[in-house]
Amino acid sequence: MARNTPARTTVIRGSGMYVPPQVVTNEMLGRIMDTTDEWIVPRTGISERRFVAPGIGSAELGALAAEAALADAGLTASDIDFIVFATMTPDHYFPGNGGLLGTRLGMKNTHALDIRMQCAGFLSGLQTADAFIRSGTYDRILLVGAEVHSGLMPWPEDVWDVMLGRTDAACDPFWFERATGMRDRAILFGDGAGAMVLGPMETDDPKAGIIYTSAHADGNGAMDLYLKIFEIAKLPYVNYDAKNREQNQIMYPRMDGKRVFLNAVRGMVMSTQTALAKTGMTWDDITWFVPHQANLRINEKVAEVAKIPPEKVLNTIEFYGNTTAATVPLTIDHWRAAGKLKKGDRILSSVFGSGFTWGAAIFTL
Ligand code: ACO
Repeated sequence: MARNTPARTTVIRGSGMYVPPQVVTNEMLGRIMDTTDEWIVPRTGISERRFVAPGIGSAELGALAAEAALADAGLTASDIDFIVFATMTPDHYFPGNGGLLGTRLGMKNTHALDIRMQCAGFLSGLQTADAFIRSGTYDRILLVGAEVHSGLMPWPEDVWDVMLGRTDAACDPFWFERATGMRDRAILFGDGAGAMVLGPMETDDPKAGIIYTSAHADGNGAMDLYLKIFEIAKLPYVNYDAKNREQNQIMYPRMDGKRVFLNAVRGMVMSTQTALAKTGMTWDDITWFVPHQANLRINEKVAEVAKIPPEKVLNTIEFYGNTTAATVPLTIDHWRAAGKLKKGDRILSSVFGSGFTWGAAIFTL
């Protein structure tokens, strides 16, 4: 916070979001697994989420959000000299999404870094971008968080026909049972993307741009929320048989929901309180609290324990579910578009995710 002489500071030049148009309601999910709106809403706050059409990956969603952020910044892709792409659902195991996004936007020879910090990915990317800009290594950084979660779930092949009611046939009982077996996870996630363009500014204002970032990881929680798909220490890496109900669990996320819930509240409260203490700020200095969107109940508990004024808390989980690395920029842009959040507002964001990973940031939009 001590910025008494002009210093190179990172500012947010523009932001943007993209969600696919297809809304998937809780009632639609109830056609392909044993769940109901009455179960989902009180426990998670989620009413609906968006799913991509088949064939669209997270690099493409990220590119669409990036185009919106570039337009907001009044810049084009050729102005960008570094891409940071946070995702846990990349198009391929390798190479990463950053290079794919650069090519999709027509960039040539632009360095790209992929971040693998799950729900803390955007925050981790913000910290990375801030350090690179402050150091003078790069001048214009495109930071993207994008996820396609819909493909991670055990859907039947005719999922859309069943969900949209285009067929009189009920869901195949095999797939209905499979999806029901992981309904605690399948209802949480949605597809979406958010992006920011960051650049430098010389200023002595200690409350300009990115004011504070802090990110953490502790592998002790790794097995409380994970997705294996392959085990690199085994031969073959991937051993998948869709009809083998035990063995094929490797293809789907595993989660101890109660442990994730408790640790998320703890990590987000701790990082929020530390962010205020380290910057000497109070809630009077902060316009909005933008938490990660994993579960509305988690965010309500964080607000209660950390004594956050409820009117300052912005959520979007009701509309989009959990979009992992995209939740924070997506929530910011959603409420900007709604006219609630404005340029110049000061945001405290805290996040928690698989890993476990967590942290917080304070920045002026
Ligand atoms: N519909 C209907 N019933 C369900 C559903 C569903 N979607 N999901 C679970 N149930 C049933 C279970 O089968 C179980 O039934 P049983 O008692 O007959 O066995 C019962 O409801 C209770 O199940 P629990 O899993 O114990 O439910 P819980 O109260 O823990 O709630 C939830 C589950 C909502 C997932 C909660 O644990 C949670 O939100 N945890 C946080 C997890 C999270 O946010 N993960 C996101 C990724 S990580 C991140 O972003 C931070």
